[in-house]
Amino acid sequence: MNKISFFILLTLLYFGCSGKDTGSIYGDPQMKNISAEMFTLGKKVYSRSCFTCHTYGLSGAAKLVDFDYWNRVADKGMDTIFTHVKEGYNGNRGIMPPKGNCFNCSDEELRASILYIFQKINSNKDGTKYL
Ligand code: HEC
Repeated sequence: MNKISFFILLTLLYFGCSGKDTGSIYGDPQMKNISAEMFTLGKKVYSRSCFTCHTYGLSGAAKLVDFDYWNRVADKGMDTIFTHVKEGYNGNRGIMPPKGNCFNCSDEELRASILYIFQKINSNKDGTKYL
């Protein structure tokens, strides 16, 4: 391989591996720039549908204070997490039902509830609040 094609290959590899969806959800612009409306919407959806499992840890669901678990999830990035929430997800601990049982939730509402979960976890890193 000559030098030029090696350089092109490196460039392709670099851009191929730095796709925007591979980073942690904490680096996602949607997390950093969440509006008050989106947060409130997420809170509403969370307290209507998600809290039954994720506040009390029912059916194998992780509580929001289970930081190790949520850090691993965060690293999957927004797109994968969104797909798992929308379509459901069969994990090692249990089954996350499609749309978290919020059957009439829009994509926007699901996205808001995910952002809300990670905002709450991120604001409680010292584990002092009961989420
Ligand atoms: C019936 C209980 C239940 C409800 C309701 C529920 N979840 Fe879950 N959730 C689970 C279980 C069980 C898992 C998978 C645990 C595992 O990793 O094995 C999970 C996993 C997740 C994950 C991690 C997915 C991944 O890629 O690892 C996210 C994010 C999540 N839930 C968000 C939500 C949101 C948002 C809602 C409300 C819209 C919700 N959940 C409602 C039980 C529930």
